[in-house]
Amino acid sequence: MASNPKSSGSGYSAEMDEAERASRDQIAALQTKRLAWTLAHAYDNVAHYKKAFDTAGVHPSDFRQPSDLGKFPFTVKTDLRDNYPFKMFAVARERLVRVHASSGTTGKPIVVGYTRADIDIWSDVMARSIRAAGGRSGMIIHNAYGYGLFTGGLGVHYGAERLGCTVVPVSGGMTERQVQLINDFKPDIITVTPSYMLAILDEFKRQGLDPRQSSLKIGIFGAEPWTNAMRTEIEQAFDMDATDIYGLSEVIGPGVAQECIETKDGLHIWEDHFYPEVIDPETGAVLPDGEKGELVFTSLTKQAFPIIRYRTRDLTRLLPGTARPGMRRMEKVTGRSDDMIILRGVNVFPTQIEEVLLGTDWCGGHFIIELTREGRMDEMTVLAEARPESWDGSGLLEHTERIAAYIKNTIGISARIKAVAPETLERSLGKAKRVVDKRPKE
Ligand code: DLL
Repeated sequence: MASNPKSSGSGYSAEMDEAERASRDQIAALQTKRLAWTLAHAYDNVAHYKKAFDTAGVHPSDFRQPSDLGKFPFTVKTDLRDNYPFKMFAVARERLVRVHASSGTTGKPIVVGYTRADIDIWSDVMARSIRAAGGRSGMIIHNAYGYGLFTGGLGVHYGAERLGCTVVPVSGGMTERQVQLINDFKPDIITVTPSYMLAILDEFKRQGLDPRQSSLKIGIFGAEPWTNAMRTEIEQAFDMDATDIYGLSEVIGPGVAQECIETKDGLHIWEDHFYPEVIDPETGAVLPDGEKGELVFTSLTKQAFPIIRYRTRDLTRLLPGTARPGMRRMEKVTGRSDDMIILRGVNVFPTQIEEVLLGTDWCGGHFIIELTREGRMDEMTVLAEARPESWDGSGLLEHTERIAAYIKNTIGISARIKAVAPETLERSLGKAKRVVDKRPKE
């Protein structure tokens, strides 16, 4: 936002890391060296990888250049689950200084671990991410990502300290207190899921406070898919710059990729530590840059938990670097293949619905998609919460019918849109749950 009066100004390149200034060729050479190390490290120290490589008939010595990586087998979530809790670690348990775990909706969680050197690298990439978002040493960060087994809270925390920021480790929840602390401590930066940021926005309004007058200049939002429409909503409401941060526990946590404040054109992948590929999710074939598919990552420097060709299920495409020319970007993630709804043969992602709803003047972005079955037909109902100033108690029928017609024409699905009263949908404290599937299990 060029017109942002709270903006901290230019000078972004001043303190970049060496890797951020490196050329594409330099990054590629580094990746080749580090991929060779990681493949050997995984093969020599993790029984799962030895077996998987042997079964596929490949050996780390077959690797010469990044294009050879395609010969190596993928790793999927069930491989990690099957090796619960510690069997994917490549170092003795005593060398781990920390573990994290993904919540996982069913069954056992996925456990990941870090040596001291791994935590150091994670702190570095997170510090780099905060700086790319416009953060600087001396700033105050209000960190509302959850602390605990989730990587969001502690991942951001260590990076913020590394950059030289003052961290307020507030974690998620207790929204009233979040607003009070923002008012009293006057942070420059907030780190939180975009859906919970909307809940904080509601609380500002409920307390009669003008969010545009808050001290917040920069938001670093991630851990769930969100749209550019949501960016505009948040930036305008708080008069701040909103950037996207991406990561996943299996790869390290937050700080795998980050949007640069000066371009806001997708997320630069920190390719000196994480090697990305995009594959066709059906065939597994590696796709050329620019084509959309499933994102796959190989870690390049991790000791405790090296990960080889991990299928993230996140859908995006790779683009050339801009603000950091040596490192590629990934387009904003539209959704996970798991979140895709197939309604009578038409595919739809919750982010598409979010975009449409935020294009109206009556819905502020809180919504839930309900799937039901009537007879043999699947039905989709979108419960869209009205902004307080738009709500008249009548259900806004004229507006909802118009939106239903628009969705039919643009996305191609027949959905019912039901406007609901302000403050009626449950707020997420972290990642939003957008879809409630009430269809009978087959
Ligand atoms: O969500 C790590 C994180 C914390 C990222 C804080 C950013 C900020 P997991 O709980 O393992 O880790 O979930 C990882 O969340 O595979 C994506 O599906 C989704 N995700 C994460 N960041 C984004 C993003 C953390 N910026 C899973 N856009 C990933 C879209 C995201 N989806």
